[in-house]
Amino acid sequence: MQLFDLCTYTVRLANQTDFAGWRDAARNLVLNDVEPQEIAWIVDADDHAASQLPAMPTVGQLKVSRDFIERAEVAFCHRDPERFALLYRLLWRMRSEPELLKIASDPDVGWFEAVEKAVGRDMHKMRAFVRFRQIGEGEDERYVAWFEPEHFIVERNAPFFARRFTGMRWSILTPFLSAHWDRAELTFTPGAHKHGLPADDAAEALWRTYYENIFNPARLKTRAMQKEMPKKYWRNLPEALLIPDLVAGAGAAAREMIEKMPTIPPAHHAKIQAKHWLTSRVSASGEGGADAHSLAALRKAAKGCQRCPLWHDATQTVFGEGPEEAAVVFVGEQPGDQEDIAGRPFVGPAGKMFDAVLEEAAIDRRETYVTNAVKHFKFEPRGKRRIHLKPNAGEIQTCRWWLDRELALIRPSLVVALGATAAQSLLGKVIPVTKMRGQLIKRDDGLRIFLTIHPSFILRIRGSAEQETERNRFLKDMQAVKGLIAS
Ligand code: URA
Repeated sequence: MQLFDLCTYTVRLANQTDFAGWRDAARNLVLNDVEPQEIAWIVDADDHAASQLPAMPTVGQLKVSRDFIERAEVAFCHRDPERFALLYRLLWRMRSEPELLKIASDPDVGWFEAVEKAVGRDMHKMRAFVRFRQIGEGEDERYVAWFEPEHFIVERNAPFFARRFTGMRWSILTPFLSAHWDRAELTFTPGAHKHGLPADDAAEALWRTYYENIFNPARLKTRAMQKEMPKKYWRNLPEALLIPDLVAGAGAAAREMIEKMPTIPPAHHAKIQAKHWLTSRVSASGEGGADAHSLAALRKAAKGCQRCPLWHDATQTVFGEGPEEAAVVFVGEQPGDQEDIAGRPFVGPAGKMFDAVLEEAAIDRRETYVTNAVKHFKFEPRGKRRIHLKPNAGEIQTCRWWLDRELALIRPSLVVALGATAAQSLLGKVIPVTKMRGQLIKRDDGLRIFLTIHPSFILRIRGSAEQETERNRFLKDMQAVKGLIAS
């Protein structure tokens, strides 16, 4: 006798990701007041028998928040075989406990949050670690990748790859399900075996060369990398074969590094942009922030800033980040390609360099406030790239409105101008930063401004010895900053 023979009702789902089947059955069962323990949930039953359900009641309505449905759809991708029953139990309980999902100590809610997070992490890993190998040329050109997700996320994640690699014909093979994109339509076939993949051939060798070239040693933090890229994923990455060599040579490679090439904004650029515009008050004058009494209110107002034309092509306003009580404020030039997409300052290559040097100077970035003189990314589209353009004096002056308010709210004991644009914004005139670096200037209002170079300046230096020297000078500046914060 099987467990489901003991249950009054049986729901047979078409497959592991048949959320629609679960949702329809669950609605029927809840409306019929069927208790969770009375239901057996079965997937892929060999006999293809039909579900055994009560008749759908003709009266009564089930009200479920859209938020729960969306979250349940994510949790449904988890590989936990109990998820169908546990999600039903949550749904069933929510009728008499409408605030149930807010009770973090409840074991069902705890489970729900944990599986949701696990699925999110797995989706993220798949996006980061899928690597395509080219097979075939010309008309036959297509790209194949093998990936082993922990959860049933292939269908949920496939549209992301279709958007990202929209011009390629590709297949992502996984043990559970395979996804295929023919430049127009997504299709799915059953899972694949790894031994069907192309061998370690020339295409992979090329891929590795490519990786070697784009490898960014300034980002190299072995422990962090292992956390981000657990070893179990390494075996599917052609470039993983190179990691030990690259780690060993990172010091030298860092000196050779140049600013990472900008990218075209991903497909979600427009979506982020639209969201920001929908959730913020459009403010051509910036008056939205004039009465802001907190950084949070100021940040919110800045979302809709149209004080200069740069807002138009940028993805979003990249506002400053850090605690309101920070003793030191770092001011950069403007967000770069990656900051524009992430919506956060100094997260791209220059940011990684900046982080590494701060760490060496024993300055905890989380205790500082990091912002930019100009809050929108200024660029010139060139083919598929967005090439950084320097903001002009008018843009710097206009955006100073926000920087002044950030500084008025934070009232730091020290401001560090990273480069000429920041210095110009803070001091109201062009400053020869390379000549004056390391100097501390007191403004008329008493604010102390420390001048130094922008970290991207170091990244642009070609020669390794020169780059090392420049990095050391920047480190010395940051050590001086550390001393000034304390004084
Ligand atoms: N350069 C800057 O000046 N600011 C950033 O946020 C990133 C790069």
